[in-house]
Amino acid sequence: MAEVQRTFVAIKPDGVQRGLVGEIVSRFEKRGLKLVGMKFMQVTKELAETHYGEHKGKPFFEGLVGFITSGPVVAMVWEGKDAIAIARNTIGATNPAAAAPGTIRGDFAIEIGRNIVHGSDGPESATREIGIFFSTGELADNWNRTVQCWVSE
Ligand code: RTP
Ligand code: MG
Repeated sequence: MAEVQRTFVAIKPDGVQRGLVGEIVSRFEKRGLKLVGMKFMQVTKELAETHYGEHKGKPFFEGLVGFITSGPVVAMVWEGKDAIAIARNTIGATNPAAAAPGTIRGDFAIEIGRNIVHGSDGPESATREIGIFFSTGELADNWNRTVQCWVSE
């Protein structure tokens, strides 16, 4: 049985600027994941450097921090069976040029530095990223999506 997980997803400044917020949220909803947290926010340099800490020292790090702080983002937490992998395959490959059509990146992006959306890459990063973007009180822990029985056995 697949484990129920939570994952952190963010619509990056390019997705917000391009008017793709509704489209992207809709894809996760329609896939069957349950929304448990969402906020529209400006990422500070400090938060960006913490969030992308694993990439510190890489040639694209400064550009990535500059990009993610260049405008507001939509930070979200989605829940469901295998939610981490499901969100990643809904998002598509890191480089949109290689992302399959039907994925968010494969449908709306062409370059790695403008790939529209972020998704946690594993259980540890999901826990870490949810913790740095949301306080406990900001998550809607206690609701059932009534369609859930039509999505999961
Ligand atoms: P993300 O963290 O944004 O969900 O993307 P990811 O797991 O698919 O990719 P990751 O390796 O974690 O890279 C984080 C973000 O850094 C930018 N990047 N640029 N120019 C480059 O070679 C390069 N490599 C990575 C991308 O915006 C990527 O999403
Ligand atoms: Mg990543």
